[in-house]
Amino acid sequence: MKLTYLGHSCILIETSSHKILIDPFITGNPKAPLRPDQIEADFVVVTHAHGDHWGNTLEFVERGATLISSVEIVGYAQQHGADSARGVGFNVGGSFQAPFGKVTLVPAWHTSSFPDGSYGGIAMGVVLEMEGKRLYHAGDTALFSDMSLIGRKGLDLALLPIGDFYTMGPDDALEALDFLKPKAVLPIHHGTFPGIVQDVSGFITKAEAMGIKGYPLEPGQMLEL
Ligand code: NI
Ligand code: MN
Repeated sequence: MKLTYLGHSCILIETSSHKILIDPFITGNPKAPLRPDQIEADFVVVTHAHGDHWGNTLEFVERGATLISSVEIVGYAQQHGADSARGVGFNVGGSFQAPFGKVTLVPAWHTSSFPDGSYGGIAMGVVLEMEGKRLYHAGDTALFSDMSLIGRKGLDLALLPIGDFYTMGPDDALEALDFLKPKAVLPIHHGTFPGIVQDVSGFITKAEAMGIKGYPLEPGQMLEL
């Protein structure tokens, strides 16, 4: 499968059959390499309701994508015009067998409210199992030791925030790697705004010293798994 980093926490995953977009914050992201109308998605996965993750979700759902997220986020989308047939709302700890693979909602330590102040449920991470690979997108989170549970079945790739201020920073993300033990890491949620600029190459060097492959992708760059 092909993963394209679209800046901040937004990733487009292309399997042999489907396009899955995670946390589609495009409009308002100064580092977004594409406009929303240049991106196609069959599924949109949203980790929490903050504007820099919820982003352009409604637009993708209106164009035909199925929204996969918490009951609160899918409910909000439907209250705001999304077709109820194109939303799968479940809850943390639960899994959904999507046409492209299995999606499990996992804990995150963070808050969650929509840009208009509406209740957004709790913030989450997501584990995707597809085409024989297991990926973890941490969403926005602090470091927590239960990450070791998320990593116990093995991870081919962990997408971890390193920006600090709103989430864990690089030092805690390195400790997260110790709990998760993934084969590879892609740092996200950094560099978008002045307050979350980090030394990405320093983080990658330290991750690789732990035996974990680092992907220091710039927005618009992709990797193959
Ligand atoms: Ni957030
Ligand atoms: Mn965020």
